[in-house]
Amino acid sequence: PHIPVITIDGPTASGKGTVAARVADRLGYHLLDSGALYRLTALSAMRAGVALDDEQAVAQLAEHLPASFANGGILLASEEVGEAIRAEEVGNCASKIAAFPRVRQALYALQLGFCKAPGLVADGRDMGTVIFPNARLKVFLTASVEARAERRYKQLIGKGISANMDDLLADLQARDERDTHRTVAPLVAAEGAYILDTSDMTVDEAVEQVLHWHTLL
Ligand code: C5P
Repeated sequence: PHIPVITIDGPTASGKGTVAARVADRLGYHLLDSGALYRLTALSAMRAGVALDDEQAVAQLAEHLPASFANGGILLASEEVGEAIRAEEVGNCASKIAAFPRVRQALYALQLGFCKAPGLVADGRDMGTVIFPNARLKVFLTASVEARAERRYKQLIGKGISANMDDLLADLQARDERDTHRTVAPLVAAEGAYILDTSDMTVDEAVEQVLHWHTLL
């Protein structure tokens, strides 16, 4: 059976996670937040005291990730970690371990398992290029680094967390650099992907655009 897949790839803080969740909701499709898998692996490694440069040890953790996803929650060995994996530090560590081919290999089958009827919306960096190359609709969702830093800033301030715009900009640039220039599964628009620059768009507008492209197929 041919299950429709929509891939939404893009850089950090582009809003792809929010857009993907909303599109999945509107279509009644399943959702794969692939970044969460890299974050879960990073968090496991940090907690287990595994060195982040030990590819083999980190890959082993990824292979046996005791994670489960239900009703929007994310459990790691029965502990709710939905909040914990969003920490900047976990994101930075995730970006480091995501450069290891063996870690990416370990998470491959897990990601394919999310593809179930009636359909899937998958967001990440390599959804359209590596994991679901035959997806029905591929979107590359991006925004200027300034727009992304500003969104992240407002998000943090809104949560009562202090933030510094220059630090956020530097952080995003470093993460873009790592995600774009790594040798395995670098962040790049998939062939045939629709490019959506959301620098001057609201989330609603981005969601409507993706749904519109979906109806055209
Ligand atoms: O999207 P998110 O910020 O949650 O992803 C965290 C990190 O995981 C990214 O910086 C990226 O390095 C990595 N990642 C990846 N491939 C994916 C999703 C995320 O390499 N499909």
